Amino acid sequence: MTKVLVATEKPFASIAVKEIRQIIEHAGFEFALFEKYTDKADFAKAVTDADALIVRSDIVDADIIQAAKSLKIVVRAGAGYDNLDLKAASERKIVAMNTPGQNSNAVAELVFGMMVYHARGCFNGKSGTELLGKTLGLHAYGNVAKRVAAIAKGFGMKVYAFDPFVPSNTMEKDGVVPVNTLEDLYKKCQYVSLHIPANEKTKGSVNFSLLSLMPEGATLVNTARKEVINEAGLLKMFQERKDFKYLSDITPDCASDLASQFEGRYYFTPKKMGAQTAEANINAGIAAANQIVSYFKKGDTTFQLNK
Ligand code: 3PG
Repeated sequence: MTKVLVATEKPFASIAVKEIRQIIEHAGFEFALFEKYTDKADFAKAVTDADALIVRSDIVDADIIQAAKSLKIVVRAGAGYDNLDLKAASERKIVAMNTPGQNSNAVAELVFGMMVYHARGCFNGKSGTELLGKTLGLHAYGNVAKRVAAIAKGFGMKVYAFDPFVPSNTMEKDGVVPVNTLEDLYKKCQYVSLHIPANEKTKGSVNFSLLSLMPEGATLVNTARKEVINEAGLLKMFQERKDFKYLSDITPDCASDLASQFEGRYYFTPKKMGAQTAEANINAGIAAANQIVSYFKKGDTTFQLNK
């Protein structure tokens, strides 16, 4: 019987697991759950006889692919797939997919949760600032950024975006002002929200020369990946610009340096929380399960990443 394993170091909400199980079992497949593991060796053991795998940010590297002797398809229930070794998967002719857009709203809401919380001094009783009338720059305009733009309108922010892969009129239709260069985006915006994937081109690309272009009262919001930040540049920005603040869903490697010198000017979620809502877990989990069923039953390869 085709075995579908859900392997999540950071578990889905139980309601999402229930729905995934129903889809898998209704298709006549076996469902298996492997959650909250801490050891890669245990993950490798769990995947040995799985035909299909659903993961979140779980690292599916060459070792895991090698251990997964029966694997035919792996679906990352989420958007970013920097955790999947696509080359290793392709070598074994394993189909790799993601579920774009399914958890976008959850991430977009966290952007505003962090911005409001910090603009109000983490609710410390002192006078804070408002988002109304502030400029917000979207560094890349994918599914999450689109939701951020929609919510930002409600806050009365002026929204700009830079994305060389998205036509200007797509942004304009959403009431977003397209800018031609990344430098322009950073120059114009008091808030910049990162929505780039982590890949060889983007890693370390958010550096001091870019950040230093931001106007007075600059806040960088990172719900993307910590790897896209040049941390030496981030530290320099904190040192040279007393107005600069950093809000991140990912604790940076330099967190202890920031804690010792720049208290009150940053906020980090203790664990990656962007997609941690029941709704996002249900949407992404159901999409992943349906994609697997559709692949086995109809050969459907929509959302395949390693074509
Ligand atoms: C994504 O890429 O979809 C988000 O970063 C969510 O990741 P998570 O499923 O590990 O929370």
